[in-house]
Amino acid sequence: MAVENKGRVEGKIALITGGAQGLGEAAARMLAREGARVAISDVNLKGAEAVAASINETRSGAAVALSHDVTSEEDWVRVLAETEKAFGGLHVLVNNAGIGLTKDLEAITLEEWHRVHAIDLDGVFLGCKHAVGLMAKTVKQTGLGGSIVNISSISGIIAGHNMAAYNSAKAAVRHLSKSVALYCAKKQMGIRSNSVHPVFIATPILDPLVARYGKEEAYAKLGRQVPLGTIGEPDDIAYAVLYLASDESKFVTGAELKVDGGISAM
Ligand SMILES: NC(=O)c1ccc[n+]([C@@H]2O[C@H](COP(=O)([O-])OP(=O)(O)OC[C@H]3O[C@@H](n4cnc5c(N)ncnc54)[C@H](O)[C@@H]3O)[C@@H](O)[C@H]2O)c1
Repeated sequence: MAVENKGRVEGKIALITGGAQGLGEAAARMLAREGARVAISDVNLKGAEAVAASINETRSGAAVALSHDVTSEEDWVRVLAETEKAFGGLHVLVNNAGIGLTKDLEAITLEEWHRVHAIDLDGVFLGCKHAVGLMAKTVKQTGLGGSIVNISSISGIIAGHNMAAYNSAKAAVRHLSKSVALYCAKKQMGIRSNSVHPVFIATPILDPLVARYGKEEAYAKLGRQVPLGTIGEPDDIAYAVLYLASDESKFVTGAELKVDGGISAM
């Protein structure tokens, strides 16, 4: 008898925000490799198009790129409609787009505070609010489970002296994810919602530090803070996203998955 070699998210449709580079790109590639069709959205459309083109080289028609500012409610409505048009629905939403801000409490301007919350928190709220209807419909039609994966940060659980805005936004994403989980469960939508909490991972988000110390020293400096001794790789997070996106995690909702090299165990 032939053994069926199915991907772990075979047949699912996923939307990954901020997918032009870094963790979003790694998650999009991983989900596509495991059988999903992926809509890759980003303010950086050229970057998203390059990732989609590279995925389509190996699996033609598996990826589309969409222009998307996650702070814009209009954009969310359009991007979800374009995803439905391209692939027929949505099972998995990865709210990944985000920015960092390392700045002292007294130095942060109100504008910077609002900007960080607009992208890192409002963007996640808008995504959840507008996607669940389409996701519930798709789950019903296909019988495959729905999953929202919100990329928070270990900074949403442990605080830093110079990260007030980022700590605040990422902690809110953690709790928002639980509220969304309970809402979807109560409504029996077939959608789970969980948050992922990475520690330092080698992506362009670390560029400010790399510019200051050079890559090797910057990564080593951060790695010394992590019990496992190094910073992480994008696929360390992509595997967590894959697990939560797949039906392997069908009984997991409202959870927080820390992928942090042990830092929060201290
Ligand atoms: N890399 C890390 O060390 C780390 C650690 C913890 C959490 N995170 C979180 O992981 C997520 C991804 O981070 P990354 O390291 O890949 O960063 P990155 O800077 O490499 O990528 C972020 C992507 O988001 C996009 N983006 C920014 N603003 C946007 C907007 N308004 N609308 C749509 N797209 C937008 C960017 O264009 C970029 O492609 C972020 O939410 C970040 O806070 C990263």
